[in-house]
Amino acid sequence: MTNQPSSLEAQLLTLRQEGESAIAASDNLERLEELRVSYLGKKGQLGLLLRTMGKLSAEERPKVGAVANTVKEAIQTALEKQRESLEAAKIQAQLEAETIDVTMPGIYRPQGRIHPLNGIIDRALDIFVGLGYTVASGPEMETDYYNFEALNTPLDHPARDMQDTFYLPDGNLLRTHTSSVQIRFMEAEEPPIRIIAPGRVYRRDNVDSTHAAVFHQLELLAVDEGLTFTDLKGTIKEFLQQMFGELPIRFRASYFPFTEPSAEVDLQWNGRWLEVMGCGMVDPNVLKAVGYDPEVYTGFAAGFGVERFAMVLHQLDDIRRVYTSDLRFLRQF
Ligand code: DAH
Repeated sequence: MTNQPSSLEAQLLTLRQEGESAIAASDNLERLEELRVSYLGKKGQLGLLLRTMGKLSAEERPKVGAVANTVKEAIQTALEKQRESLEAAKIQAQLEAETIDVTMPGIYRPQGRIHPLNGIIDRALDIFVGLGYTVASGPEMETDYYNFEALNTPLDHPARDMQDTFYLPDGNLLRTHTSSVQIRFMEAEEPPIRIIAPGRVYRRDNVDSTHAAVFHQLELLAVDEGLTFTDLKGTIKEFLQQMFGELPIRFRASYFPFTEPSAEVDLQWNGRWLEVMGCGMVDPNVLKAVGYDPEVYTGFAAGFGVERFAMVLHQLDDIRRVYTSDLRFLRQF
């Protein structure tokens, strides 16, 4: 009998010890919650012990009650402390998982550059878009009709000799100029037309420092009521001045099957006249081929080589440099 109160007290103290060490050993918040329920919950171990207090004598009861309170507080404190440290550890682990090491060396990505040919194309398109033109394009594989026939260049026309190309087994060919885009665009649209068409073209040419079998052109076409040679000259002059600066230019009479009259444009560059483009008034036969009435509409057209412009502007000695992907060359642009 005399042992009983001290035995309950001892059990309470044991419970406190066990509780504190279990709590200190718990390594996650779920486990901690289980411990809270197990010690302090409604059906918890502390509650079970306290239910036996009724058996104590009147003078022992407050004494043991006070001990029970300190045990409860101690376990509560231990739970609180452990919760805080587990939560802190959780945040810490999260932060560590998300850490960016700003001292880590970066991945080296070499800076790209615009290829000199694309640079010329971009500049030319910008200038023409500024003049109200739309960018157009057409296929590189063409029919004889779009590349020659509709451009007033029938099968027996001598002008074909200068534009020999690669013929495909099915009768198609690789276009020799971007002029074929003129026909395709006019067939699809109605005047007024203002287009600038960049693209790759092909010729059966022997490759040397100024010739390539694959090169690039820009094609200009305007069709409207009342366009004259003056409009052509003004447009070309404006374009060349924006491209090269205020340099002397001259129009020299020439011949192309699809323009009448035709001209070649020369630019005075470092004291020499350089031929930079072909142009002319759209031949009435070309307008007829696409179903336009040449009595109502007139037009002008021009075509020029992108490589040629690049060579003049960047003073290149050999056209092949722009195709060889030599970084020592390309890095200069
Ligand atoms: N297509 C011609 C060539 O490749 C260039 C050319 C000349 C285009 C006069 C034109 C033009 O539109 O009017 O040599």
